[in-house]
Amino acid sequence: MKVLLAGGAGYIGTHTAVQLLKGGYEVVVVDNYDNSCPEAVKRAEALAGGKISLYEADIQDRDAVQAILAKEQPETVIHFAGLKAVGESVAKPLKYYRNNINTTLSLLEAMADTGVKRIIFSSSATVYGEQNPAPYNEEMPKGLCTNPYGWTKSIMEQILADAATANPELGVVLLRYFNPIGAHESGRIGEDPQGIPNNLMPYVSQVAVGRREQLTVFGGDYDTPDGTCLRDYIHVMDLADGHVKAVEFSAGHKGVEIFNLGTGKPYSVLDIVNTFQQVNGVKVNYAIGPRRAGDLPVCYADAGKAKKVLGWEAKRTLADMCRDSWNWQKNNPDGYQDA
Ligand code: NAD
Ligand code: WQD
Repeated sequence: MKVLLAGGAGYIGTHTAVQLLKGGYEVVVVDNYDNSCPEAVKRAEALAGGKISLYEADIQDRDAVQAILAKEQPETVIHFAGLKAVGESVAKPLKYYRNNINTTLSLLEAMADTGVKRIIFSSSATVYGEQNPAPYNEEMPKGLCTNPYGWTKSIMEQILADAATANPELGVVLLRYFNPIGAHESGRIGEDPQGIPNNLMPYVSQVAVGRREQLTVFGGDYDTPDGTCLRDYIHVMDLADGHVKAVEFSAGHKGVEIFNLGTGKPYSVLDIVNTFQQVNGVKVNYAIGPRRAGDLPVCYADAGKAKKVLGWEAKRTLADMCRDSWNWQKNNPDGYQDA
């Protein structure tokens, strides 16, 4: 079976490509390298000992996508292609709405024209918004998002659901990721943010490796056990395995199905810093600073549905996540630029 990964040269896409190839799937990647590079795809091929058909194209370009789908005829598309920096989305909302929504429309239209009937979408826990109490389950109504990035995910979920209602042949799987961290255990592929990292783990790793002076912990006065925010961190390889299970699931299902991909276990910012230091024997300088606007105190998954329906659950521990993040960072201090 063949799977096309739109945005597959990125962080989650490359790890998923490795696990799909290892699972015997044929893999096609289409990316415009807006936030990635071909080197990552080469390394994914080497890790899996397989071949990836690689195309450079903007997924917003419907004709280009249609030509690739017609040529490759994948059974399933996984839609990773999107812009994901929350802060930038506040400053440049139209850029985010244009790219994220147009990629989704373009993919759906090109799929309809070429007879591809299954799509798996990279959604986010952010769609639960501020109103729902954690742990979040898939039955909860979506909430009000706190930034344009989150709204693009919420709107794209709606577009995909409406497309499935109109076309009963379409199968849509919405995967709501929690906080992916970690890297392939080889240290050959990992997260390679450009500029100052927005997310916690890349920041922690860059402080540990000496690229940044000190981590600012955003808020130490939340109503949580140690005063810092709680999140559901999930190893990117567990996430990749979740995608393989979702591909298997989508082969036998039409309509829309939603799954949380998280561990169901909340950890604090200080849990991350302390575990990272202990597991890796390195120092992470940090100081408690003011809260960051828009942060929820607590966000974690009810991971029961994915276990029951997909037969998937996260297996890797927080220590594994910290070890593998560091292994990637220390072997590639400047990310793929080192190649
Ligand atoms: P990433 O930036 O590493 O990967 C996204 C890929 O999409 C990049 O390779 C980028 O070049 C590509 N891309 C973007 N716009 C494109 C376009 N118009 N045409 C072709 N390619 C395009 O991000 P990631 O962490 O791998 O995330 C993958 C998906 O999962 C994204 O949609 C993201 O919003 C979603 N997601 C990520 C997280 C997270 O914390 N990493 C959490 C929830 C959801
Ligand atoms: C985690 C915790 C911060 C950086 C975001 C998006 C979400 C999803 C995942 C998708 C929080 C704290 C962080 C730092 C800190 N995205 N922190 N100092 O905000 O839970 O989720 O990424 O594509 O939609 O909103 O993740 O890694 O930014 O923060 O103290 O320098 O670490 O306050 O408590 P977040 P994060």
